Amino acid sequence: MSSDYYGVDLVRRMRRNRVSPSLRAMIRETALRREDLIQPLFVQAGEGEAEPVDSMPGVVRNTIASLVEECRKVEDLGIPAVALFPCIEKSKKDAVASHACDPGNVLYGAIRSIKAVCPALTVITDVALDPYTSHGHDGLLDERGGVENDSTVEVLCRLALAQVEAGADIVAPSDMMDGRVYAIRQALDDSGYQHRGILSYAAKYASAYYGPFRDAVKSGSLDAPLDKRGYQMDPANVREALLEVRLDEEEGADMVMVKPAGAYLDVIRAVRESTMLPLAAYQVSGEYSQIHAAARLGWLDYEATRDESLLAIKRAGADMILTYFAAEVAATLP
Ligand code: PBG
Repeated sequence: MSSDYYGVDLVRRMRRNRVSPSLRAMIRETALRREDLIQPLFVQAGEGEAEPVDSMPGVVRNTIASLVEECRKVEDLGIPAVALFPCIEKSKKDAVASHACDPGNVLYGAIRSIKAVCPALTVITDVALDPYTSHGHDGLLDERGGVENDSTVEVLCRLALAQVEAGADIVAPSDMMDGRVYAIRQALDDSGYQHRGILSYAAKYASAYYGPFRDAVKSGSLDAPLDKRGYQMDPANVREALLEVRLDEEEGADMVMVKPAGAYLDVIRAVRESTMLPLAAYQVSGEYSQIHAAARLGWLDYEATRDESLLAIKRAGADMILTYFAAEVAATLP
């Protein structure tokens, strides 16, 4: 067949480079590594069995014992870090998040237990008040029911400090209050923790994709979804994300995050091009659960969709990916 079969001179036939698996491997631009992955894990108080999260197949609310086992497995798989999220009993929640800094908070025991068994595993903790507030918001409310910025930041500093004292390597403020990165940095430095890092959820959107997570930590229901638009970002905005990242950078963040990931690949790319800091992306609960749901219905190939979703996030520019798929995907990587 002549090269001008289509009426154009086909000097460049793109398919020549796709002829065989070996050729395709040679020209592949992006690869997911075990080291790119961060495993989010849930923990709750109590003994006995880990409790499945209905809306997140394969995800459980761990006991401290099962959490430590999970961490051992994750470390053996070559995953460098876990991100911890506590699920707090309803009776311990109140309007001012008193339980956050209570030494009896299951989170602190969990951090200490992990560090005793897996000292080299990086432990990232979430700095936000939503696990501890009866209303489910990430901060303290003012008289009109809005989330109060500066008083929230004060509590966040105490929470971050307590997490670091228990052994957390990196604290990750996910609350979207203004000025919290700077305040947390000061609080850690003042107590001698200059070498513990801050991974800022810099561009965190007010997203419907968090639904299953709020089920996992029992901080809200789909019937009455919490409106966090007064502090989380508008999904319509990308310039604003760059400004958030710049401010967090100036405030002393060591790493920044974009969240969610899959529906925000353009934001990941834009942030990647505007900061020199390491960039994390969070493939959130809803992204995880929709792949599971479609696969259960026989509408999507589970493994292929899972792997493609993660590769896309890496390709967009994320250095690290928080994903509930971390351990199972790491097990498939070379
Ligand atoms: C709360 C927090 C949320 C997630 C992580 N930290 C939910 C929210 O902002 O309402 C979501 C994670 C996920 O959906 O997997 N500080």
